[in-house]
Amino acid sequence: MKILFVCLGNICRSPTAEGVFRALAGREAPQLALSADSAGTADYHVGAPPDRRTQQAALRRGYDLSALRARQLERADFGRFDLLLAMDESNLADLRSLAPAGAQARLALLLQYAPDAGRLDVPDPYYGTARDFDLVVELVERGARGLLKALAAQSSRRVSAGGVAADGE
Ligand code: 4NP
Repeated sequence: MKILFVCLGNICRSPTAEGVFRALAGREAPQLALSADSAGTADYHVGAPPDRRTQQAALRRGYDLSALRARQLERADFGRFDLLLAMDESNLADLRSLAPAGAQARLALLLQYAPDAGRLDVPDPYYGTARDFDLVVELVERGARGLLKALAAQSSRRVSAGGVAADGE
């Protein structure tokens, strides 16, 4: 399963989602074959590392995003990834309008996987305060955990549909 997290600039929200999801998947669901990447719908920050405030907020929760670099979404991404997860409704609308006809990738909002969060958008923190950047990490963690749960459930349904017993016999 290949997942692409998408926001506007790819320097705040979607790199946070990529880093958090990778860390949680490696720690909590190493049995699942998952890969994650992120991209922005805009080209403003191509090649740049995550925003300093984003990196600081992520580090406060134990995630190092320093190796990531921004890139712009490409139409080929709709064929390369199984699931494209937008950070807000505006990003999702952009994805819908950019998707090539017949693209198979599923498009959704990250927070659709976190119904308890009580909201669907991860708000753009770019013109906000440190608290807004902390909120991004908190919401992204909720979404990433919910997503992992859904993927683990899907994977175990597949295993049982294939007739393989839970104990491997
Ligand atoms: P992101 O945040 O979409 O979460 O990466 C933003 C980054 C840059 C800008 C806007 C949002 N900008 O206008 O440059």
